Amino acid sequence: MIKKAIAVMTSGGDSPGMNAAARAVVRTALYEGVEVWGIHNGYRGMIKDDMEKLTRFSVSDMIQRGGTFLGTARSSEFKTPEGRKKAFDNLRSHGIEGLVIIGGDGSLTGGSMLSKEFGLPIVGLPGTIDNDVWGTDYTIGADTAANTIVDALNKLRDTASAHRRIMIVEVMGHKSGWLAMMTGIAGGAEYILVPEVKYDLDSMCHELVEMYEKGKRYSIIVVAEGACSAIGLGKVVEQQTNIDTRVSVLGYIQRGGSPTVEDRMKASMLGEKAALAIISGISNVVFGFDMGKVVSINLFDAVNNKKTLDPELVRLARVLA
Ligand code: F6P
Repeated sequence: MIKKAIAVMTSGGDSPGMNAAARAVVRTALYEGVEVWGIHNGYRGMIKDDMEKLTRFSVSDMIQRGGTFLGTARSSEFKTPEGRKKAFDNLRSHGIEGLVIIGGDGSLTGGSMLSKEFGLPIVGLPGTIDNDVWGTDYTIGADTAANTIVDALNKLRDTASAHRRIMIVEVMGHKSGWLAMMTGIAGGAEYILVPEVKYDLDSMCHELVEMYEKGKRYSIIVVAEGACSAIGLGKVVEQQTNIDTRVSVLGYIQRGGSPTVEDRMKASMLGEKAALAIISGISNVVFGFDMGKVVSINLFDAVNNKKTLDPELVRLARVLA
């Protein structure tokens, strides 16, 4: 049954490309003659009834911008049945018949609860720099974040080399090591520490000293935040190797910036798919990519399964280090 009014929202940690995805949802819905509402600040805004009807001009000058014009937030109230009921009633009061959620694991889980508890049609898009959503090898913003990190690694190599230092760089990813693994390989790191793979600190320090004594000017160690704290690791490495060691925690710079072509293109493709699906009555799916093609994943499968790190990446990192 064709919907007359849908809504779109961004939720969880923002990521570059969320605006491109939301823009595609809005433009596609309006092209199909369907009203589209924008919910501000994620589930917090849904509960506070902070939403507005959007026009094609609401998403002008948007595709190149990082962040999310709708705003995002984390909401503890939404974790309560009362909060979810308030949110659903607000959607219904505006005649909204389906919701597109652009967000990560936690946000999509929230959507699955709205679907289960109120029968609200939900279509999800994987919006997070972590690339940790099950069923898709792509999430909106991960490519831009990876490029930001590799740019930082290139700069850090210069100063590590100048001072003959060990540079330990902490990257985001929540509990996933994908960002660290991809950027560690692309950035030519000597070591990449991720939560999914055990590492031997003593043998790493022994090897660092050995290479240093053979004349190697510097080493780069990329650490996923889910593996350990780079600051703590830096202290131990410097003590055990007696080599000048510095730490850079890249932090929130990884979440910003103008989205890459890949993120703009894939976010736009997913946004169009999501709008057409929710309008035509499809529900409880997440659209993602597999081997370069758009795929649809069952929403409950996406939120109830944990994505694993590609062992091929782990093997390659070992060979190239
Ligand atoms: O999920 C995206 C992410 O950037 C994670 O990589 C990071 O651990 C988390 O968000 C930080 O959350 P917040 O923005 O709430 O501090």
